[in-house]
Amino acid sequence: MTELEINNLVKRFGEVEAVKGVNLKVKAGSLVALLGPSGCGKTTTLRMIAGLEQPSKGDILFNGSSVLAIPPEKRNIGMVFQRYVLFPHMSVEKNVSFGLRMQGMDKAEINRRVAEVMKIVQLEGFEKRFPSQLSGGQQQRVAIARTVVTNPQLMLMDEPLSNLDAKLREEMRSFITDLQKRLGITTLFVTHDQIEAIELADQIGVMFKGELVQFGTPEDIFNRPINPKVADFMGATNLISGHLKSKTRLETEVGSLDLAQQPSQVEGSKVIATIRPEHIDLNTETKGPNQFKALIKEAVYYGGIVSYKVQSGLLSLNVKDRSTRRFKVGEEVMLELAKEHLWVFPEN
Ligand SMILES: Nc1ncnc2c1ncn2[C@@H]1O[C@H](COP(=O)(O)OP(=O)(O)OP(=O)(O)O)[C@@H](O)[C@H]1O
Ligand SMILES: [Mg+2]
Repeated sequence: MTELEINNLVKRFGEVEAVKGVNLKVKAGSLVALLGPSGCGKTTTLRMIAGLEQPSKGDILFNGSSVLAIPPEKRNIGMVFQRYVLFPHMSVEKNVSFGLRMQGMDKAEINRRVAEVMKIVQLEGFEKRFPSQLSGGQQQRVAIARTVVTNPQLMLMDEPLSNLDAKLREEMRSFITDLQKRLGITTLFVTHDQIEAIELADQIGVMFKGELVQFGTPEDIFNRPINPKVADFMGATNLISGHLKSKTRLETEVGSLDLAQQPSQVEGSKVIATIRPEHIDLNTETKGPNQFKALIKEAVYYGGIVSYKVQSGLLSLNVKDRSTRRFKVGEEVMLELAKEHLWVFPEN
């Protein structure tokens, strides 16, 4: 198994600095998701690891040794892309064995490996079909089979599921995690989909504008985002400004709030608190602390969830409610902000 390490990696394209000093470690056998909005440098980072792009600065190491001098075809990397270009005129079997045939591998060994991989990707019996006779998910599994059949020391996946419909995408996610864990191939998986990253990854690196701004477990990133921008990107769209009255109490424009986590800022500091829409409860009466009055401004019904916009003074918040109750626009409610889900950042 291979450990991947990236040290202070920089890539400039003329004036554009696409990657600005990224440090990252992918432990042997783990799956790291690189998550970030369009244009933040995810693909450029993958291409440098694969050797398709030369870094402007920094180093890339496999098991502690630099690979910068090693050409792409010798790095033993498997790549899976969004557009999984299969050869249309070749059967599934021929597509999967292509890389091995290019290496001039013995025919019996090729057949053995292809049969093994077809079983792994659950496509036994599809060997003689052509890509046009497969569903999108099956085609993507052929693309993955073609990659793992070469026993890569590292797998790089660049938004491999974004061309699939929602249901298939979910199936393929669990397929990829199972496969990755079973084969133990160190994997870097690029996505701009937060949920995908959370479901797939052992650890997530969040990138903005060429910089890696946070690295941690899905739980860390989801519940303890490092700054309001990461919080917003992860769907914690509610930002409440205030100042710390004590280590566990926040004074805000709508009232005081108890905190469960002790912030690192000193008492009196101006801070921003964030809470996810699903962690705000709506009640008709006061029941305890961390509650304040608000007005329903908007209510949108989704299957099983009502998404509300509520207003308290100048503060506007998003709430996602799973209960069967319905509040109407114009109705007055009590908001309850679960203290264990309130997270505090320094203001700026
Ligand atoms: N060959 C190139 N020449 C010039 N600029 C480039 C080149 N490749 C990428 N860039 C720029 O570098 C930045 C990062 O691009 P990159 O493709 O790595 O983003 P990304 O995070 O993969 O985005 P997406 O989610 O849209 O795929 C962008 O501003 C892009 O325009
Ligand atoms: Mg990209």
